[in-house]
Amino acid sequence: MGAECKCNCNQEGKLDALFAQYKGNPNGLIVVMAGIQEIHGYLPKDTLVQAAEALGVPLSDVYGVATFYAAFSLRPRGRHSVNLCLGTACYVKGAPEVQVMLEKEMGIKAGNTTEDRRFSLDLVRCLGACGIAPVMTVNGEVFPRMTAEKVSEVLAKYE
Ligand code: FES
Repeated sequence: MGAECKCNCNQEGKLDALFAQYKGNPNGLIVVMAGIQEIHGYLPKDTLVQAAEALGVPLSDVYGVATFYAAFSLRPRGRHSVNLCLGTACYVKGAPEVQVMLEKEMGIKAGNTTEDRRFSLDLVRCLGACGIAPVMTVNGEVFPRMTAEKVSEVLAKYE
């Protein structure tokens, strides 16, 4: 049976080719997982099970790799990745208020992705820019001296 996909990406053929290429070859695990991540934007559970079977690797090993590498995500990610720093400098300069506003505007708690997959919101520790705290990034773009009042204006830039 070929790779089944429930996310409407219509890329089952690509996955089938990837699984066929590394069939029975555990050394291909990271390449296959990188391919899955590229196709789906994350690592869907069903697809990981299929990958484990195709390569002959225990599912626990697959999850071990998935959680070890920061580049892999087990959850769907939003089109825009928002990181708010909660390191000490940012925290004391008001990052918690920014967090409250981000969560309110997005309708999610930090660590999650909005239903429409527009944003993923994550909290990070010290981005190395404490002099311009509190700091937030969107897709790597830095927003210095963030305030709760600036949140909706910044988010509106990202469709
Ligand atoms: S604590 Fe936020 S950038 Fe250093």
